[in-house]
Amino acid sequence: MEKPGRERHVFVRNRVMETNHPILVAPSLLAANFAFLADEVRKTEASDSDWLHLDVMDGHFVPNLTFGPAVIAAIRPHCNLFFDVHLMVDRPSELVEDYIVAGADAITFHWEAEVHHHRLIQRIHAKNKLAGISIVPSTSVDSLLSVLPYVDLVLVMSVNPGFGGQSYISESTARIKRLVELRSQFGWKYQISVDGGVNSTTMVEVAGAGADILVTGSAFFGAKDPAGFVRQLKSLRRSS
Ligand code: DX5
Ligand code: ZN
Repeated sequence: MEKPGRERHVFVRNRVMETNHPILVAPSLLAANFAFLADEVRKTEASDSDWLHLDVMDGHFVPNLTFGPAVIAAIRPHCNLFFDVHLMVDRPSELVEDYIVAGADAITFHWEAEVHHHRLIQRIHAKNKLAGISIVPSTSVDSLLSVLPYVDLVLVMSVNPGFGGQSYISESTARIKRLVELRSQFGWKYQISVDGGVNSTTMVEVAGAGADILVTGSAFFGAKDPAGFVRQLKSLRRSS
């Protein structure tokens, strides 16, 4: 049985913002103990988390390797959360269908790793999944102007991608605010997700800037009380 929440996100593509939802929390499996993946994904579900963030790294786009579709397919039956797949890979267009078959509900690829952005967004939408675009800290938010009307998610990397446990880059706050501003100026519908260094020290600043989704790896899996940490994150107020 799937949670109604997961279904809702899949089928209200591009209209999620209309519901004025509270902040969503997405623990990143990167910080989990990989020897006990099924237990770790159950831990995310037992907290009041909304999404499970799955960091796919290829050792080329970023200097680290994680897991592929086989692992995602293996954990799918153990967790009913919405699967938020973050592809940190070169040539994502060659891979997206594999991740959809494995159980992804949203696929986010990097602006810097693809040339034909619109085509890839369309392919993801054709499978009735949410499509996200991500940018590394050195890419300007305004580079995304041509795709912002079409994406469901914008994933702001607030660290240089590749590893968990890094410090939040403070310039990310202005980038989140710029995305909020553009969304309101043009009436676009994307949700803003923030990934990297989100913890109990930075969370107020990130939420205050207008983030809709908080990805949290080491802070969630390292917490004494992960469920309590999620409650704290969900009680934060966005500025928008
Ligand atoms: C980094 C990944 C993040 C990472 C976040 O490249 O995209 O999702 O797991 O980890 P923390 O929360 O530890 O910064
Ligand atoms: Zn990520």
